[in-house]
Amino acid sequence: MYGVIEDIRDDFPALHQRIFDKPLVYLDTAATAQKPRMVLEAMTDFYMNDYSNIHRGVHSLSMRATALYEDVRVTVAKFIQAADSDSIIFTRGTTEGLNLLAQSFCLTHMKPGDRVLISQMDHHANIVPWQMMRDRYGIILDVCPIFPSGELDLEAYENLLTDRTRLVSIIHTSNVLGTVNPVKKLVELAHAKNILVCLDSAQAIAHGSIDVQSLDVDFLVFSGHKIYGPTGVGVLYGKLKHLEKLIPAFGGGSMIESVSFEKTTYARAPLKFEPGTPPIAEVIGLGAAIEYVSALGVDQIGLYEQGLTDYALGALRDISGLKIYGEAVERAGVIAFNLEGIHPHDVGTLLDQEGIAIRAGHHCAMPLMTYYQVPAMNRISFGIYNTVDEIDVLTRAIVKAKKIFGV
Ligand SMILES: Cc1ncc(COP(=O)(O)O)c(C=O)c1O
Repeated sequence: MYGVIEDIRDDFPALHQRIFDKPLVYLDTAATAQKPRMVLEAMTDFYMNDYSNIHRGVHSLSMRATALYEDVRVTVAKFIQAADSDSIIFTRGTTEGLNLLAQSFCLTHMKPGDRVLISQMDHHANIVPWQMMRDRYGIILDVCPIFPSGELDLEAYENLLTDRTRLVSIIHTSNVLGTVNPVKKLVELAHAKNILVCLDSAQAIAHGSIDVQSLDVDFLVFSGHKIYGPTGVGVLYGKLKHLEKLIPAFGGGSMIESVSFEKTTYARAPLKFEPGTPPIAEVIGLGAAIEYVSALGVDQIGLYEQGLTDYALGALRDISGLKIYGEAVERAGVIAFNLEGIHPHDVGTLLDQEGIAIRAGHHCAMPLMTYYQVPAMNRISFGIYNTVDEIDVLTRAIVKAKKIFGV
């Protein structure tokens, strides 16, 4: 990877710009990844040559568009090693995937007093939809605690798997702490008690291979835009035997078998979960993104980012007054930190003036901020296009910010 990094950077037009007359250093890939030319070209090409609606036309353009869309289902299935491409539901992103699952799962399986287990480190996208279901169906939401290191308390996890727990829905890789949770173990423990598991893999999908069959996970969600694809598209994977049973939460065109005013019957999975016109061009863009990442090798990408993370952790730890949140042994290229005496928003603004894009805020994880007793954190996160030189630019800029604030 090191030898080809300049070639990779050339694939990303947005990286070659200056901010405040400094070269852009983009360290916000966990929020969203920049897009390689191939993704943009695939979408433009679709709009210019093959654009039509899908699953409903007998004309050539519609059949071509349908084939392109359905091919991506196969590409995604292969990418996450799903047994069947019918296990792949296209959504608008992780958030929609989790809402869809929460609503369909509760509609189908949950009774008042049944429980869902989430964790202290979950993103709001995996908290709020379940809270809404709690208020609607009288289910109980349990929260697995974490240790200050940012790792899950596995003993507490096991104890929280009760005979009323129907589902564990949990973050795979933390978007704040970088913790990579021991997902295989989490699935094994849950399955031992006949409890299903959904993984929020929004931050895991682009940084290492995922094999849903070997993990034996029941559901998994991710967003296209975090894997170098477009916004407005994502995936909800489900084992087909589960999807067949689930009642769809949303209705409309394309998801039906027959409709009369008395009764509607639904299409088979996954179509029964994709009502209306889907994000067709975005799905095609996602396919191009997965092909791009696969050509580089997603595990190689993860390894490369691991090198950047180790280097950055070393460099940041040398800065006095800088506190890093999360010291998990298994961690990804996401580092949250605060500087003593400087509000994260001020750090973010000062770094922006040096051309460096980082995220500052609560990272859609307010319960995690509460746990660490801070209102906000700074966060850097890596993608395939980042370099060690950029980390040096970052550390120099942090030292400069400290000087400006006299801390
Ligand atoms: C772990 C995690 N889950 C869910 C989401 C929500 O993803 P989206 O906004 O693409 O729906 C994010 C986005 O930052 C995330 O990092």
